Amino acid sequence: MAVTINTLREYKRKGEAFSALTAYDATFAQVVSEAGVDVILIGDSLGMVLQGHDSTLPVTMEHMCYHVRSVAKGNRGALIMADMPFMSYGTEAAALENAAELMRAGAHMVKLEGTDWMADTIRALSDRGVPVCAHLGLTPQFVNKFGGYKVQGRDEKHAELMIEHACQLEAAGADVILLECVPAALAARITQAVKAPVIGIGAGADTDGQVLVLHDMLGVTPGRRPKFVKDFLKEATSIQTAITAYHDAVRQRTFPGEEHTFKA
Ligand code: KIV
Repeated sequence: MAVTINTLREYKRKGEAFSALTAYDATFAQVVSEAGVDVILIGDSLGMVLQGHDSTLPVTMEHMCYHVRSVAKGNRGALIMADMPFMSYGTEAAALENAAELMRAGAHMVKLEGTDWMADTIRALSDRGVPVCAHLGLTPQFVNKFGGYKVQGRDEKHAELMIEHACQLEAAGADVILLECVPAALAARITQAVKAPVIGIGAGADTDGQVLVLHDMLGVTPGRRPKFVKDFLKEATSIQTAITAYHDAVRQRTFPGEEHTFKA
């Protein structure tokens, strides 16, 4: 049966973890969804892992729509979440137009990076039938404001602010919250504070779901591997069994471990 937002809500209600993974083409979308992964994210991480840039900023709507269409062709029942690329939701009008394009290409939900300033945009999208995931914490489109890829919410002032933003964005209509690179204790507080399913990456074991970038979990990303990543291909016999092992580890809450987790 196809995964919908209701499936994710039901997982949260039952306290069962769910898995998400990025994919950017039809073949991997089929492999990932047939392995049982619940959510496929067409992340703007494609700017780094497919296009070779050092950030996600050069990714355009044209790139995103191309990859969403490809993933939609191969998908076998996962929920398809598509990133809105840098500045494609800079105004409410742009957000509505660009989200519509991603939904027409085959997305079931769009993901936006930011904080409380996105509330009106999320409300406008939600009111018009577009499910939204709000991405908080280390939001890679803000790398130049952050001065690098750094863990967010380490001190109590910023932790409190992130909890407040998650609650505000949920109240505005966000259906899912995604937390990237935040201390595990803070991610656990946010997961408790909101009714919406919370997906973590580098956010500890207590979020409702987990996501990784496909290339990271297959150990093929060049350069230094972030602390929160595990190479599942290392102990597997094929890409298919590596993806199944990731899905099972998330479901059984054996991934992420302590060694993949940040402290305040
Ligand atoms: O672009 C992406 O792949 C993402 C994940 C890192 C969550 O946003």
